Amino acid sequence: MSTRATEIPTAPAAVHQDAGITRGLVEITKVRKSFGATEVLKGITLTVEPGGVAVIVGPSGSGKSTLLRTINHLEKVDGGFIAIDGTLVGYEVRGSTLHELREKDVLKQRTEIGMVFQNFNLFPHLTALENVTEAPVVAPRSGKPRLTRAEARERGLELLDRVGLKDRAGAYPRQLSGGQQQRVAIARALALDPKILLFDEPTSALDPELVNEVLDVIRELATSGTTLIIVTHEMGFARDVADTVVFMDEGQIVEQGSPKDIFTNPREVRTRSFFSKVIEPAFNI
Ligand SMILES: Nc1ncnc2c1ncn2[C@@H]1O[C@H](COP(=O)(O)OP(=O)(O)O)[C@@H](O)[C@H]1O
Ligand SMILES: [Mg+2]
Repeated sequence: MSTRATEIPTAPAAVHQDAGITRGLVEITKVRKSFGATEVLKGITLTVEPGGVAVIVGPSGSGKSTLLRTINHLEKVDGGFIAIDGTLVGYEVRGSTLHELREKDVLKQRTEIGMVFQNFNLFPHLTALENVTEAPVVAPRSGKPRLTRAEARERGLELLDRVGLKDRAGAYPRQLSGGQQQRVAIARALALDPKILLFDEPTSALDPELVNEVLDVIRELATSGTTLIIVTHEMGFARDVADTVVFMDEGQIVEQGSPKDIFTNPREVRTRSFFSKVIEPAFNI
């Protein structure tokens, strides 16, 4: 546990102690993070509105994964702060000092934020359904009572149905394709009924022919009212689903805007140079 005396939240929403009016507002303010002597986040400020879809793009090593991991306090920030619906992530303010929350409270906060990783991270010894139901059985959903096993099973089947895999409920991860495994991972992330879903390159480990089945599931989530923050290299998908495209480079947000602004009319040289390398010539807005 640690305290920080230097950075006290001053953003209006972040000092509201009373959350719950909105659902899924993410406010990232001047966030800094170093690993040893290397600063990998150099003062990131970004707001994602409730139900909004932010897509983060940028070269490898620019800090995208680190930023996602700070949102659920898998990485502690060195400066600045993050608030969800006006409540600080990982810290509480006492007097003029930020005190890191106890592990128990960090874990409770984390149930509000689902995360989907590049490599699925399913439990290999559990079936698809068990992978989905494990979380809500062991941990209470945010602000909701713990589910019984029967309720968790019913909810698990509903969620597998939502990702098109109800008929594979009894399959183990090794019996599923990469695309199917990732869809199970998405169902698992949904099981806690999170306010926010974070996706870190969810299709990067997939064979090309399996990418779309996963993107289609995320497309559907994008219209569901859950706030999504997605790191991806799939630019066509970003153009379709994003409210905001954020271009990061070297630990900073170089520019952000609507897909149309960022893809067709980027202001910054660095953005243009990045897109000229990643976007195929046939890509049309
Ligand atoms: N746990 C860590 N320890 C040391 N350096 C790290 C750690 N995690 C990430 N980095 C470094 O931070 C930089 C940003 O990494 P990352 O956030 O993974 O970038 P991206 O996701 O954009 O590729 C990279 O230079 C990476 O090597
Ligand atoms: Mg990454």
